[in-house]
Amino acid sequence: MQVDNIKKVTVVGSGTMGNGIAQIFAVKGFDVNLVDMNQEILDAAKSAIDKSLSRLVKKEIISGDDKSAALAKINTSTNLGVAKDSQLVIEAVTEKLEVKVEIFKKLDQDCPPDTILASNTSSLPITQLASATNRPDKFIGMHFMNPVPIMKLVELIRGMATSDETFAVTRDLSEKLGKTAVEVNDFPGFVANRILLPMINEAIYAHMEGVAEVKAIDEVMKLGMNHPMGPLALADFIGLDVCLAILEVLHEGLGDPKYRPCPLLKKMVHAGYLGRKTKKGFYDYAS
Ligand code: NAI
Repeated sequence: MQVDNIKKVTVVGSGTMGNGIAQIFAVKGFDVNLVDMNQEILDAAKSAIDKSLSRLVKKEIISGDDKSAALAKINTSTNLGVAKDSQLVIEAVTEKLEVKVEIFKKLDQDCPPDTILASNTSSLPITQLASATNRPDKFIGMHFMNPVPIMKLVELIRGMATSDETFAVTRDLSEKLGKTAVEVNDFPGFVANRILLPMINEAIYAHMEGVAEVKAIDEVMKLGMNHPMGPLALADFIGLDVCLAILEVLHEGLGDPKYRPCPLLKKMVHAGYLGRKTKKGFYDYAS
């Protein structure tokens, strides 16, 4: 398969990442199916995309007509079966191995043999997800960054059996989307999260141990290290449940106690303080 053969893309999961991924493909003229569990979630995703596109119109990055054209390219559905005529499927559902495995098994049954299956997982093993299918050579990690329409990077993760062709098509496709693909091998956390999450975890420990207040920790990293966002604000942005899930994968996958998730992070997740998406995390977003 060549990159120009890819005309229709299905995105499974329409949350934070899925709606951003659907948006960037639609803006570039691809036909997009966006799949989730119920219509209410899909309507919320469509309205998030509408808002995001309106911001681009306001900044004069795209025209009003481009916005309408992009929205018209996105078909929402609660039926995973719509993926059957897509050349590429990108899965962006909740970070749970068993949920993703079930989805990939069904996709593998429904889609033609040359359809490429990709996961946007932050940390689950690509090789293991690929082994749930009969096409591990056509399986790859396409790890977009949040917010998808803005961030340039796509971490392209090769599973043990990913073919050179699958890698080349997804690399060329990333470029077509205006992104830069970086090739990475399949180890827990890949590169981005293996380096980012220990820093966020350490910031949470520093806060828990009373080294400094939340704002102070973020200010040190912004002003002292030139980070655009402090680690605790970034944790709220990513979602504290997602941060915890990634740390658990690093801890279990690498077996090193240096990755153990901070007890305060666990407590906040148990309390339902998940960051921006619940309007409460290290910061309050209610007002
Ligand atoms: P989210 O919680 O915002 O969205 C997940 C969506 O998946 C929800 O809309 C949910 O209804 C849907 N879903 C769950 N089970 C489903 C099923 N069986 N069929 C169809 N839809 C289903 O999560 P988010 O943050 O968008 O994360 C999605 C994936 O992207 C995860 O694997 C995560 O690790 C990864 N990721 C997240 C980043 C972030 O900053 N939040 C960054 C990069 C990757």
